[in-house]
Amino acid sequence: MDQNMRPETMKRINTPELARDFIEEQVAAVRAQVGDKKVLLALSGGVDSSVVAALLIKAIGSQLVCVHVNHGLLRKGEPEQVVEVFRNQMKANLIYVDAVDRFLDKLAGVSDPETKRKIIGAEFIRVFEEEARKQSGIEFLAQGTIYPDILESDGVKAHHNVGGLPEDLQFALVEPVRLLFKDEVRVVGKALGLPDNMVFRQPFPGPGLGVRCLGAITRDRLEAVRESDAILREEFAKNSLEGKVWQYFTVVPDFKSVGVTDGARTFAYPVIIRAVNTVDAMTATVEDVPFALLQHITERITHEVEGVNRVVYDMTPKPCGTIEWE
Ligand code: XMP
Repeated sequence: MDQNMRPETMKRINTPELARDFIEEQVAAVRAQVGDKKVLLALSGGVDSSVVAALLIKAIGSQLVCVHVNHGLLRKGEPEQVVEVFRNQMKANLIYVDAVDRFLDKLAGVSDPETKRKIIGAEFIRVFEEEARKQSGIEFLAQGTIYPDILESDGVKAHHNVGGLPEDLQFALVEPVRLLFKDEVRVVGKALGLPDNMVFRQPFPGPGLGVRCLGAITRDRLEAVRESDAILREEFAKNSLEGKVWQYFTVVPDFKSVGVTDGARTFAYPVIIRAVNTVDAMTATVEDVPFALLQHITERITHEVEGVNRVVYDMTPKPCGTIEWE
């Protein structure tokens, strides 16, 4: 039987009971596969890697070594949450790597979107490789590959456009959720006790805020993206749009416009709000966000986010606009 094909008899995991059965099966399978050896996992804090981490902590405890690379392009509060949930609550063996300066230095002055993506991907592999080399006795690499990755892109996570680890670091793979669809991964994550805001989070691109801070990334605009995104998410959650809208975020371009505050002229960045609905991300429609809410969010962003004097709402469906701006 092909281990990477979902058997026709496999039930859709859509209840806590089915999730618990799946977890039990996988815990046994992982223990049988791994024995007393160590397993390495790149833990981004996204749904898939978080569920794999929680599952493996249950199966093999401290034999799992999680590496969280903070590349400075994550949303507000995310690196802190990874440390809180996995190290403090689940007692995981977690290595936290502060690589913010390293990534931002590499990205300085680079404005082409695909080059930015490649730099972020390649630097990530390099940081992860360095951490892997510091560990002794690793024999397995855990990955949050899910079934659509296998169906759509030969088992490679979407948009990974850089090579993997070098030859001498090719470990055997542990991929406990490889036969699951995204909704099933979420049900399993919930059953493993992960917080809702980790399990039900909206899709977030691998290069993170790096492709929402348009053009060459600067620290001031990156902070403006992070802070405005946090306000948008807070307001969407407060107004029951969190689970309803498929993807929503802010973008900060690399040009300024004239404004006026307290009678004085300002020259500052705009923030673009994007909120879309889609089934498969191939096409998307724009969310009809209540006007009063957009006004309130605009007021908060222009008052609370440094260096911003204007907010606009992106009205473009896909096609002809893509979901991201870069
Ligand atoms: P676009 O912008 O192509 O995005 O309409 C479709 C979906 O893909 C996500 N996206 C990415 N995800 N790495 C990722 O992991 C990337 O480089 C990347 N670019 C876009 C985007 O957020 C949307 O959900």
